Amino acid sequence: MAIDLGPLGQQSTPSALLLGVGALTTISVLFTTLRVLLSTFILPGHSLSKFGPQGSWAVVTGASDGLGKEYALQLAKKGFNLILVSRTASKLATLSSQIKTSFSNITVETLAMDFSQNLDSDYSALATLVQGKQVSILINNVGQSHSIPVPFAETPLSEVSSIININCLGTLRATQTVLPSMVPQKKGLILTMGSFGGLTPTPLLATYSGSKAFLQQWSNALASELSSTGIEVFFVHSYLVTSAMSKIRRSNWLVPSERSFVRSVLSKIGRRGGSIGYPYSGSPYWSHALLAALITGVLGPMNSILLGINKSMHVDIRKRALRKAEREAQKGKKYT
Ligand SMILES: NC(=O)c1ccc[n+]([C@@H]2O[C@H](COP(=O)([O-])OP(=O)(O)OC[C@H]3O[C@@H](n4cnc5c(N)ncnc54)[C@H](OP(=O)(O)O)[C@@H]3O)[C@@H](O)[C@H]2O)c1
Repeated sequence: MAIDLGPLGQQSTPSALLLGVGALTTISVLFTTLRVLLSTFILPGHSLSKFGPQGSWAVVTGASDGLGKEYALQLAKKGFNLILVSRTASKLATLSSQIKTSFSNITVETLAMDFSQNLDSDYSALATLVQGKQVSILINNVGQSHSIPVPFAETPLSEVSSIININCLGTLRATQTVLPSMVPQKKGLILTMGSFGGLTPTPLLATYSGSKAFLQQWSNALASELSSTGIEVFFVHSYLVTSAMSKIRRSNWLVPSERSFVRSVLSKIGRRGGSIGYPYSGSPYWSHALLAALITGVLGPMNSILLGINKSMHVDIRKRALRKAEREAQKGKKYT
């Protein structure tokens, strides 16, 4: 007996194929959109207790200001003792006493070191601090960008090597120093701060952009290496946040304060947000997640139009920064 397939039965093979591809594409887009929305707005990340109990230790680099300071404060609030590593000893001392006053149960140890110097003695001092402690969390936060957007050919070598020493070598060496203390516990978290500047190539911030792209590859490779050990590795895609580095003081829907941003990160560990196609990574702040979804899921991070927009944005920022520097130089001359 023949089965009547109705109009479908009369479709030619190519149009049936087209229909099938169209249906699959629609399902895939709907599924991805749903996943982004659930991950960004509904589903919680891993609880920090998964990585170690209260009273175990968290190491935060670049801890004396900006996002690092906020990571330190929020981890103290969650009951983790702290090893704070940063450049300026006085700022570390102030933060340490602020934390001890607010959270009397928390022990804080500090190490003032300059990651740009890449000194073996500094990393040995860090190893000594970590030795014998149950370290559950490492926040690889320390980072430096260019002082203003600058063509690569004109970038001072000192700035290039600082960025590479701090962002790349500093992160790798801090991780090599801390990781051995996580291995016996068979759990832990290594969280590294990435940036939209590395997610998509950023002209006039070429070295910074490259350093964060390097960290992306490294972090994903490490995550896969450690996936069977219980140690979780998470890479954070961040757009702008108020801080000394971004030079933005007032927050808005797209540029959160350090506090709101870090709160989102710590509540979304392991969640992808809008970072479509990036394993072991996420964009935890909601508006960053939507922007990441547009870049990674719609345009593509290497999209030439996106690159062009990014370039004109940074050319413009450079012009304004140079004009400001000129005004300040004129003012300085007036008063001397
Ligand atoms: N803010 C943003 O818009 C944004 C966006 C995307 C990604 N990120 C990433 O987030 C991380 C934190 O950025 P942030 O905005 O919080 O930066 P920030 O406000 O400039 O703070 C940087 C912190 O790192 C320390 N530091 C800088 N250079 C150092 C060095 N050579 N040796 C040791 N410590 C050093 C600073 O110490 P001192 O206090 O002694 O200066 C400070 O505690 C960075 O990795 C950055 O790339 C930030």
